[in-house]
Amino acid sequence: MYATLKSIGAYAPQTILTNHDLEKMVDTTDEWITKRTGIKERRIAAPDEVTSDLGAAAAKIAIARAGIDPKEIDGVICATLSPDYLTMPSTACMIAHKLGLSHVMAFDISAACSGFVYLLNLAKAFVESGAYKNLLIVGAEKISSYVDYTDRGTCILFGDGGGAAIIGQTENKNEAILDVHVASDGEYGHLLITPGGGSKEPCCLSLLENKRQFIQMAGNEVFKIAVKTLTNDVIDILAKNNLCAEQIDHFIPHQANFRIIEAVRQKLEFPEEKTVLTVHKYGNTSAASIPMAMNDAYEEGRIKRGDLILLDTFGGGFTWGSALLRFGGE
Ligand code: ACO
Repeated sequence: MYATLKSIGAYAPQTILTNHDLEKMVDTTDEWITKRTGIKERRIAAPDEVTSDLGAAAAKIAIARAGIDPKEIDGVICATLSPDYLTMPSTACMIAHKLGLSHVMAFDISAACSGFVYLLNLAKAFVESGAYKNLLIVGAEKISSYVDYTDRGTCILFGDGGGAAIIGQTENKNEAILDVHVASDGEYGHLLITPGGGSKEPCCLSLLENKRQFIQMAGNEVFKIAVKTLTNDVIDILAKNNLCAEQIDHFIPHQANFRIIEAVRQKLEFPEEKTVLTVHKYGNTSAASIPMAMNDAYEEGRIKRGDLILLDTFGGGFTWGSALLRFGGE
């Protein structure tokens, strides 16, 4: 029995924040943002829309596309760095509740932008072991709640959104999740961090005054390590599975920065038409980025059942990962 990705769904909030809007908020220009990141605009959730709303909206689409009864879902796992609540209840519990799924396993994982690939790793193991038949995995982020809109080094990058998939069982290897590789190195945790609000720096007035509750990033250092790690990770997973770049139908990298994607794509010689890009319209939506990109390609009719997909991601922690799967949906 193999695990398969049966369906994909995504949700992008209505409000668009363009580079020109950001020009009015911080000392930046559309030209700088476009040249350095490839981002033109990103979505921002409404004040009354929370991370679990974005995740639940994406999940509804994934469930409908999987053609399963919600009662057949055995568990919900959510990857997010912007949970509804800092400690509890988990965002996965809120998503399950909003979907009317009661009495199912529900929990969150914390792997920053690598969250969706980490979810695939978990769901694959759960399904292949026979412990669960159908799992709903969700990457959802209202990162705008954790971004300092006076910091031009970070606020230009991030956007809100949700992506979801149903992971089920199959006996057909031509629609299986073939391999997932995830890893981490906490030595670099300080380079991409939300320093305040946890047990290390519990919430207090001075923490808020010093904006320690917001994401901080040493962008240039993260950039260099991201390019190297993402490239090596793809080389490793392809070699381990005796595959070459030409055999991949769709390369779906984490959508953090067009220059990072382009550096990896060129090094590995993936053709442009096989590389899925959404960074220009959604920015970096962290754990939601890969499923949102996969959903875009799916809705454009580019992804068909059995297509070989390569995912590659990198994020805070540092965490990183890659996955090889054959699309198992309709
Ligand atoms: N507008 C104008 N100028 C800016 C802006 C801005 N928005 N931001 C920074 N600058 C300036 C800097 O102050 C600096 O000026 P100086 O030379 O006078 O000091 C100059 O531009 C260059 O700054 P760098 O930080 O070196 O710019 P860089 O080319 O590295 O681009 C960026 C910055 C876009 C943040 C890039 O480093 C990046 O994308 N990093 C990786 C992000 C990433 O992949 N994160 C991982 C996933 S995220 C997650 O897990 C949550």
